[in-house]
Amino acid sequence: MYITKEEEKIYNGEYGEVLEMAMNLLVSLGEIYGAEKLIPVSSVQVSGVSYKTIGEEGLNFLRDISNSGIKVSVPTTLNPAGMDLCNYYELNFPKNFVKKQLEIIEYFKKMGIEIGCTCTPYLSGNIPMYGDHIAWAESSAVSYANSVIGARTNREGGPSALASALLGKTPLYGYHLDENRVPTHVVKVEGRLNNLSDYGALGSIVGGIVKNGVPYFIFKNSDIHHGKYNKLKSLGASLAASGGVALYHVDSLTPESKIGKINKINNFDGDNKNNIEKITITKEDIREEYSKLNTTDEKPDLISIGCPHCSLEEIKEVVDFILKNNLNKSNKFKCDLWVYASIHIRAIADRMGYTKIIENAGGKIVCDTCMVVAPIEDMGYKNIGTNSGKAAKYLPSFCNSNVIYGSINDILKKGL
Ligand code: F3S
Repeated sequence: MYITKEEEKIYNGEYGEVLEMAMNLLVSLGEIYGAEKLIPVSSVQVSGVSYKTIGEEGLNFLRDISNSGIKVSVPTTLNPAGMDLCNYYELNFPKNFVKKQLEIIEYFKKMGIEIGCTCTPYLSGNIPMYGDHIAWAESSAVSYANSVIGARTNREGGPSALASALLGKTPLYGYHLDENRVPTHVVKVEGRLNNLSDYGALGSIVGGIVKNGVPYFIFKNSDIHHGKYNKLKSLGASLAASGGVALYHVDSLTPESKIGKINKINNFDGDNKNNIEKITITKEDIREEYSKLNTTDEKPDLISIGCPHCSLEEIKEVVDFILKNNLNKSNKFKCDLWVYASIHIRAIADRMGYTKIIENAGGKIVCDTCMVVAPIEDMGYKNIGTNSGKAAKYLPSFCNSNVIYGSINDILKKGL
């Protein structure tokens, strides 16, 4: 791989050990994947933030980097941590966990990383432009940036994203290149999809089939345009969790679906000149996926909404349910309800009065974390209600939880 004179100096340790390590990591990745060179990135999203996922080893690694005094060189945001960074005691997070998590956050802060702690940085100020090269970790955000925005990123891991943040560069391979952005499968969705959990179930099925391919969706009966950003967010997260999908296209909707070379494959029923694999998904397939994602008939002890973190519209859906069912201080949910959002979205929810309505009904808007990276299994939660295809996939293995899967409305009903 070609590196410039300046990059070579960093590689050889002339700017210190930390940058040397970062450059060595990016060059090794580039060489493994056949990159021609390094390219500049306009932003980075770093993962590996929760003490639950990185443990003592990760904490020590971050301490070393932070103590070196090196700062990130491009705008960098942070994935969810293991707890709400404001209300940890009120939410009963274990004391030792709180201590470790706060330490990790301090290290990231010292590196100049924005402590927003959200998997939806694109709803909170880290918004790339079409065609921008970026280095994002967090598979759902990668999927959104590539597919919905048309920015370009590989599925970075925590260390490679951090290396990119320090150097402002990434190796040129994978989804940064046009040839890897063309569809590998065309997916006709026949059944009508009604809510976000239907899109989560769809993502769960298709991700399992295409693995790390690039699906091109054609929706026959669904009005995906209405509330499209939330639907695409839900679909992409689930595709990324059940397969390794980092990029998908939706016919006539996502930006690159309109590009000639990609758009030519959209004639599902015509001749198959591109020799592309075709998949049809029916309403029955979606229904069947619901029963696979549901792993218990029991009632939830925790309802978790917001994987990926909620937009304001999703919070409003919870609020509408509460108002419709006359829930309030004297008539609360019978189980805990955590609605996950970034601190940015929460600030607007506060102003809209949504936070108060949710709290009066016994729920919480929880920032900076989620049901997967928080230690919910150590906090006594076992049966989790969720409307997220991604969470439904991860909860059994990451948190040893049982899953109750359904739409926001249906899951909230289970808490009455
Ligand atoms: Fe975000 Fe946690 Fe889901 S990081 S995408 S809410 S698993």
